[in-house]
Amino acid sequence: MAKHLPHGTHTPVLIIGAGPAGLTLSHLLHQAGVDSIVVERRSRADVESTIRAGILEPATLELMRRTGVGERVDAEGIPERGIEISVNNQRTRIDLEGLTGKTAAIYPQHEYVKDFIARRLADGGTLLFEHTVTAVEGEVVSVETSSGEHLSIRADHVVAADGSASPWRAQVAGLRARHEYPYAWFGLMVEAPPTHRELIYATHPEGFALISKRSDTLQRYYLQCSPEDSPEDWSEDRIWEQLHRRADSEGITVSEGRITERAVLRFRSAVTEPMQRGNLYLAGDAAHTVPPTGAKGLNLAVADVQVLAPGLVRAVQTGERDLLDKYTELALPHVWRAQQFSWWMSSLLHAAEGESPFSARRRVAQLHSVLESEAGRRFLAEQYVGTRAQEV
Ligand code: PHB
Repeated sequence: MAKHLPHGTHTPVLIIGAGPAGLTLSHLLHQAGVDSIVVERRSRADVESTIRAGILEPATLELMRRTGVGERVDAEGIPERGIEISVNNQRTRIDLEGLTGKTAAIYPQHEYVKDFIARRLADGGTLLFEHTVTAVEGEVVSVETSSGEHLSIRADHVVAADGSASPWRAQVAGLRARHEYPYAWFGLMVEAPPTHRELIYATHPEGFALISKRSDTLQRYYLQCSPEDSPEDWSEDRIWEQLHRRADSEGITVSEGRITERAVLRFRSAVTEPMQRGNLYLAGDAAHTVPPTGAKGLNLAVADVQVLAPGLVRAVQTGERDLLDKYTELALPHVWRAQQFSWWMSSLLHAAEGESPFSARRRVAQLHSVLESEAGRRFLAEQYVGTRAQEV
C-alpha cells in the first residue's frame, strides 16, 4: 500500500496525520486536481480502529455525499432526528429536525476515517502509514520509515493535522487559549440492545450520563467521573448503579450487557491562533481541542479543511496566496462558536465536584429556561446540528 518514494520527492502539499482533518483535506485537494502526500505515524489498522465520538453534522454529511464518500454513511449511519435531555430523570425532547430542518447522523469517527482511506487509495493517493515526520524545516520535511530509513520530502505547503499533541504547533508559536474542566467522562462500549431510539443527555445530582449508540447490538455510554479516576475505580456494579440512577426515566431503563471497552476521557478546551505561519498550517485537533459534549471535534476538523483546501488549491494552481493567508481569519470564528457551544453544553449538564447548592439550583433553572422555551430549544438544536454553511 505504501509507495516507495525516492529521496527528494516533491509534493505541493504534505499532510501530517491521517485523521479526519488530514484525510478530508487530501481528498478535497485531489478533487480539485492538487496532489498531496499524507504521512501517518500509526498503522492503518490502528487508525481504523481507534474509538472516538460519533456524531456527524449535516454539513459534514453533505461534504461526504457531494464528494462521493457518502454511500456507506447513508446506508449504515443512524439518522439523528432528535435528542433527549433528562434533568433529574425527567426528559424533554429536542426535535432537531423539526427545529432546524436538518438531521445529524450517528457514525463513529473510525468509520469516517475508513471511508476516506479507502477512497484516497482507490484514487491512487499516497498515504504513508507507519512513517514519522521528524523535522519540518521550511520546505524540507524529514520522515523516518518503520524500518528506520530516512526520507526527505520537499513540500510547498505543510499541514499539521496530527492531533492535540502535535509537536509542530510550537513552530507556529502563537497564542494558546486554554480551559480545563473539573470533570471527565468514563466511556464504555456495551454489547446490549439500544436503550432508546434517541440519544439521552442526562444530568443528575450525582453527575452527568450520556446514552449514545452504535448499532442494534452495541451501545456507547458515558458517565461523568473525576479527571483523576482510572477505569479500575469503577466496578461493574457501580457502573450499572450509576447509569440507572442518572439516566433511567419514565419508560426507559438503560440496557445492560457485556462491557467491552472502558476509558477515561479528559475534558479540555484549547485554541491556537494564528493557525499558520509561513508555509505551515494547523488543522483539526492540532490547532484546537473541544470537550466531547456535543461531539464537535471531527466536525470542526472538517470545517477547518473546508476553508484551508480552497486556499491551498488557489496557491498551488495560480501562485496567489491571498485566500491562504486568510485561513486563520476565516476558520477561527467557527472554531470559537464550537468552543462556546461545547463549553456551554458541558457546563449546563455537569455537576462540578463541590458545586454549591446555589450553583446547582441555578444551573438546573438555566436548563429549564432553555428546555421550556421554544427559542431555547431552537438555539440548542441549531448549535447541536452545526451552524456552518453547507457549501463552500
Ligand atoms: C458518541 O456517541 O460517542 C457521542 C455522542 C454524542 C456526544 C458525544 C459523544 O455528544
